[in-house]
Amino acid sequence: MWPPRYAYRVRILVLGSGAREHAIVTALLRETADDGSAAHEITAAPGNAGIATAVPVIALDPTNPQVVAAFALDNDIELVIIGPEAPLVAGVADALRQRGIATFGPGKAAAQLEGSKTFAKRIMEEAGVPTGRATRAGSLEDAVDAIDEYGAPYVVKADGLAAGKGVLVTPDRAEAIAHAEFWLSHGSVLVEEFLDGQEVSLFFLSDGHTVLPLSPAQDYKRLADGDEGPNTGGMGAYSPLPWLADGFVDEVIETIAIPTVRQLALEQTPFIGLLYCGLIITSSGIRVIEFNARFGDPETQVVLPRLVTPLAGLLLAAASGELAGVPRPEFSNDVAVTVVLASEGYPQAPVTGRQISGLEAALQTPGVTIAHAATARSGAELLATGGRVLSVVATGGDFAEARARAYAALESIRLEGGQYRTDIAARVSE
Ligand code: AMP
Ligand code: GLY
Repeated sequence: MWPPRYAYRVRILVLGSGAREHAIVTALLRETADDGSAAHEITAAPGNAGIATAVPVIALDPTNPQVVAAFALDNDIELVIIGPEAPLVAGVADALRQRGIATFGPGKAAAQLEGSKTFAKRIMEEAGVPTGRATRAGSLEDAVDAIDEYGAPYVVKADGLAAGKGVLVTPDRAEAIAHAEFWLSHGSVLVEEFLDGQEVSLFFLSDGHTVLPLSPAQDYKRLADGDEGPNTGGMGAYSPLPWLADGFVDEVIETIAIPTVRQLALEQTPFIGLLYCGLIITSSGIRVIEFNARFGDPETQVVLPRLVTPLAGLLLAAASGELAGVPRPEFSNDVAVTVVLASEGYPQAPVTGRQISGLEAALQTPGVTIAHAATARSGAELLATGGRVLSVVATGGDFAEARARAYAALESIRLEGGQYRTDIAARVSE
């Protein structure tokens, strides 16, 4: 049924504990009923200190299918939104759907699109989706052969989930071989041809058959300014991408999203959830660098604040197989910038347990919200509990305004040893 008219509050469970999940909860809470109260009843599990200020949080293991399904049944949950990849790969969506609970997130089999790079490459090959050439190697000898075949710069990837640490792009052959050797002790590796160009993250809602695009974003994967330093989970992002060619989104729908979803449906593993297309625009066309099976982090923090269409209705329609006929989601003309504040030592060995202060002052900046990631309360103190601590999100009429707001807010926040990039969205030309 579109547009959705909720006759009652939808009981929603959001799984996860990152800034992405905080951004999802914030977007859901923007929907209000006629009397101005929140349109939906939202619970998060396990959440974090920021999410806990917005909605009730439950301490349960989001990767345990039986535990999540039992909680959802006991609490009459009508929609489960799965944030991170680990519950997807663990089969949480399958357990929920078996019990008739509408779930936004693919089952274990379709989540292999993210969980196994070899699986993703096979699907792309079958579906005729453009991507870089790659060789799977199960031994160091094979990896070295492939490294020499493709040449520098070298691209070596862990085949399975590696929390953003599995990919190395380097001009240094010895380093490429060492990376392959390390990840071979965990499974196979993929050696890939180097692709050169601008990167774009484009998200699609999928109900297994129909896809709807969200607004494109760009993520900054390297730790330091000027794209120096190691790859991370993502240090910042902005949306939209004013420099994209007209017709870009339509081309990705036709050549990438629809063929991929069709192939998965054909294999009896329909993809219900968010298809994250990590793309690179090379001189010979658009190529897929990676698929993820969930909302991107930190891109979600800049895409959802600009979403005008009610999020719950879209996710419920996708989870219920009812996207056909739903209009494309609408986005505001505002732009959004997010800058991630990370702990000292991130990504190799983040220092945790340090106090964070100044958030109230930061939130005084117009257009600024803060999406918490690795935060926890200890009495009156807010502590950093992991690598990526929080995302400062700023919207504005243009990128100069949004950037100025984000960085002004960051100046108010104190975290000993905290690190962030100063060049997020610095060179966005309209
Ligand atoms: P992935 O986890 O596969 O997205 O890779 C992380 C980052 O490594 C990407 O965002 C790119 O910046 C870079 N990367 C991955 N694959 C390639 C490639 N084939 N060519 C160039 N850069 C790549
Ligand atoms: N921002 C990259 C990711 O979510 O995988």
